[in-house]
Amino acid sequence: MAAITIPTELCEKLRNAKKVVALTGAGISAESGLATFRDAQTGLWAKYSPEELATPQAFIDNPELVWNWYAWRRQLAAEAMPNPGHQALVTMAEKVPEFLLVTQNIDGLHQRAGSTHVIELHGNIHRTKRFDDNQIVTDWEENGEIPPRCPTTNSLLRPDVVWFGENLPAGALAQAAIAAEECDIFFSIGTSSVVFPAAGLIGETLRHGGLTVEINPGETPHSSAVSFVLRGPAGSVLPELIQKTWP
Ligand code: APR
Repeated sequence: MAAITIPTELCEKLRNAKKVVALTGAGISAESGLATFRDAQTGLWAKYSPEELATPQAFIDNPELVWNWYAWRRQLAAEAMPNPGHQALVTMAEKVPEFLLVTQNIDGLHQRAGSTHVIELHGNIHRTKRFDDNQIVTDWEENGEIPPRCPTTNSLLRPDVVWFGENLPAGALAQAAIAAEECDIFFSIGTSSVVFPAAGLIGETLRHGGLTVEINPGETPHSSAVSFVLRGPAGSVLPELIQKTWP
């Protein structure tokens, strides 16, 4: 793929920015080998759509199937490595006075790349909680029962991720919305921008006159509204942006 031209004006704005927000989606993990959410499911799971599995009702109807789907995805995430796109955001956070990373991803790759303060809008596949009351559980007996149960209350355990129809962590969304409202530059990276409320965050920046940048090889509903479109993969566009902004 030809190198993406990074507008000099964007580099200047980024170099002088005080507050930057980066919202990431599954696309930033694509170059780590993790399929994006709307890629076709592969192998054993090809016959299911995420919308069929990532819901409380799906867990109630077939807890073993849903647990095993997440166990498979957890293993894939654990085996994946952060890519230069993740690492570029660690560098950006070091350069910008106030930087907030907001992710829709549950794979934990931003943290493994070295990002410290990550707002996880949709939870984290590496965390587990009680289905009954959402309390996080860190240890349980692997006695072959699937899903496992909480050793204290015997509740079935589930991944600490946000399922369709569930509310996002209230504090996380509010913090992200305030940051989007106040920031100088909002990066929308590797997201199809079709799932709300995450997809609405960029609107806060647009309404308050902040600069907006889309980094995505494909079109999204926001492409025509943003200040800059960097039409390419995050794994090469972000390092190029960092290198040109802070040579
Ligand atoms: N670099 C940047 N973007 C990429 C790359 C890449 N290398 N490869 C693919 N993309 C883009 C695709 O063009 C698409 O726009 O990443 C986006 C992935 O979109 P989705 O699969 O819809 O993932 P996402 O936007 O994160 O989904 C949002 O929806 O299903 C829910 O909870 C789920 O968090 C997920 C949310």
